[in-house]
This record gives sequence, C-alpha cells and structure tokens, in this order.
Amino acid sequence: MTSSPPLVPPPRLLMGPGPITAHPRVLQAMSQQLVGQFDPAMTGWMNDTMELYRQVFRTANEQTFLVDGTSRAGIEAALVSLLEPGDRLLVPVFGRFGHLLREIGERCGAEVHTIERPWGEVFDVEEITSAVARVRPKVLALVQGDTSTTMNQPLAGLAEALAGHDVIVYCDATASLGGNELATDAWGLDVVTAGLQKCLGGPSGSAPITMSPRAVELVQGRRHVEAGIREDGDTARGTRIASNYLDLAMLIDYWGPRRLNHHTEATTMLYGARECARVLLDEGLEQSVERHRLHGAAMLAGVQGLGLTVFGDQAHKMHNVVAVEIPDGVDGDAVRAGMLTDYGIEIGTSFGPLHGRVWRIGTMGWNARRDAVLTTLAVLEQVLRQAGAAITAGGGTGAAHEVYAG
Ligand SMILES: Cc1ncc(COP(=O)(O)O)c(C=O)c1O
Repeated sequence: MTSSPPLVPPPRLLMGPGPITAHPRVLQAMSQQLVGQFDPAMTGWMNDTMELYRQVFRTANEQTFLVDGTSRAGIEAALVSLLEPGDRLLVPVFGRFGHLLREIGERCGAEVHTIERPWGEVFDVEEITSAVARVRPKVLALVQGDTSTTMNQPLAGLAEALAGHDVIVYCDATASLGGNELATDAWGLDVVTAGLQKCLGGPSGSAPITMSPRAVELVQGRRHVEAGIREDGDTARGTRIASNYLDLAMLIDYWGPRRLNHHTEATTMLYGARECARVLLDEGLEQSVERHRLHGAAMLAGVQGLGLTVFGDQAHKMHNVVAVEIPDGVDGDAVRAGMLTDYGIEIGTSFGPLHGRVWRIGTMGWNARRDAVLTTLAVLEQVLRQAGAAITAGGGTGAAHEVYAG
C-alpha cells in the first residue's frame, strides 16, 4: 500500500495572471472516460473542436485545431513551421513574451529584428508598419496581450496598414483571447495561437491555433511525411520543419480527413479545450469580453480606491489583469503569502524589470465575477493593513461597488 495521500487540492481562488480557477464545466468534461484515438466519437469531437475554435478566433480558416502542449507549444509550432534558417523575422517587443518570440525565432535560425517599447507601453500600428517596410520580414510576430506588463497591443487596422507588404502575421493571443476583442480575419492575422488557462477558464496544456490559407500554403511547402507512414504521392517538399512534434504540416494531416497518424491526441485536454470553447460561445464572445471589461474595471477601481498605484498605460491595459505597484516599505512576497495561507487567494508576482515592483491581479475566465473581485479586494485590504501599509479603509470594495452600480 502506498503511503502517499490522495490528491486533494486546497481550496483556492486563483486571482493571478493565469492559471486561474477552472470553470466547473471544464473540470467535469475532463473527468470523462477515454475513447480510442480514431473512434468516430473522438474524430467527431476533433471536427467539432475545429469548428468551435473557428468561432472563438472569429475566422473562416479551415486549419483551426489544437496543438498539444501549453501555449508555448503553439507559439513554437507556429514559428518553427513558418521560419526557415535565414528567414527574416520582425518582433515588436513590449514585454517578456515579445522577448520569448524573439528567442524562439533565434532558435529557428531566423535573422531576427526587433523594435522595442518600454514595459507598460504599446506600439502605434504605424510604428509596426514602418518597421515592416524597413526590415521586409517574412514573418511579423506579435503578442496581443502581454501578461508581464498587462498591456494589450492594438491590432485593428494592421491588415490595411500592411496591404502591399508580403508578410505573414503571427499573433500570440494566449492571455487576451476571450476577454478582449480579437478578430483574426478582419485584422488580417495569418496565424494566431492561444492557451486555455486565462480567459478561457481551463487548465494549461492545450494550444488552440488557427492558420490562414496563405500560412497553410507556406507550411505545406515544407511537408515531409514520416517514413513509416508515407504513401505514394507523399513526396517531400522544401526544407523539412526542424521539429517533428510541432510540425504544422503533419498536424494538418492528422487533424484533416486523412487522419495521418502523428502523436496520440491528448484526449482529456481535447475534452477540456472543447468545453472551454463551448462555455465561451454559450455566453457569447461579445458578452464574455464585456464581462471581462466590467470586472477588470471594478478591480482597477478597487485597488485605486485602496490608495494603491497601478502600473502602465491604462488606456491600453488588457481587461483581465492589472499591475499594482507594491507600496514602499511593504514586502510584496509576504503580502502574497498572507493572502494565500490565511485566505486561500493567489495573486501574481512579476518578472524582469517589474520583479519586486508590482503584483499582477487577474479577473479572468471563471473568476471574472463580482464575488471574486470583492473578496480579493477585501482580503488585500486586510493583509495590507497587517503589513502596516497606509490604505483607505473600505476604499477597495467601495470603489468596486460603484463600478457595479454603473
Ligand atoms: C502572452 C503569453 N504568451 C505565452 C505564455 C506561455 O504560456 P504557457 O505557460 O501556457 O506555455 C503566456 C503565459 O503566461 C502568456 O501570458
């Protein structure tokens, strides 16, 4: 008999920048029994999931499916499949995840060019367009919502601004999808990837992706079917994609009518990803964005009502996360630990230049809710008071209530 106890997670309210507390419907879907990889039930759910995510990404792209792995797997799949050694990549960097795109591009052997904005700011669409005109990249890779800074890069108008430039646009929408507007086709985005653990209310471990016909043509030009499953007509084309697991040409064959065997689809993650999309679409995309806007505004007003200062250009903040400056003389980690141990509430720390300077507080997915916002603000007040911070008594929940009262 094993001496390890059964797994009983402590009750938590996850109010950081993700992961967040999963939606109960998603957990329920993920507890369902497995079926075989090519069972008609399973392939039916795969097709179903493709259609659901077309709606979530607001696209008509046939090639819309899941990459197994966390959001980073989706990012790597996109970049390694699009970029060949020596290709030019342009990355506008305004936070940690822009640096990640640059680093992955370098690992792909691309010639990487960056433009940078200080953390807490975003780019004008014109700045991006003039860098594209100067660098003439094959791929422009952008983050929409960078959780490290909480900023949301405006993308509307990009398609028009880039007209005449032969560039493939990749976008990491991991942190923003479902809680902020994203219109893949209308904004001319060729490849968009995401994750479940933010506004979609699921666990990390599945990366929805969508690819425009142009992007599909590009990766199909590098199609190399594995030797053991190759058939007549499967002639190798172009430079082989450097990763087998993240080869989008092979994943297209796997998710397509031929169901050409690749990895064993992560069944339980597919159940979860499918339910995340169903939950979102049942609510309605616009309604979900509006809910994130409302509860994000209540949290922002609440922390300001406590007398705290927020970080970054608030006109371009994502709806679902706010960066709050740690008051002078307060130990940020001790406050987070106090909230977690005494009240079961998790808020986030931060990275790089913001490490030790700000907490990141999320209101996303299942936790973009009035009770979650008010409870977090009440607890933050108590713990800050214990830490000796000068804060406005009742100012947090009071300001949030005012937002809810309209
Ligand atoms: C914008 C963005 N991109 C990528 C990632 C990486 O996601 P994952 O940890 O699921 O690989 C994150 C995670 O926080 C993120 O916020």
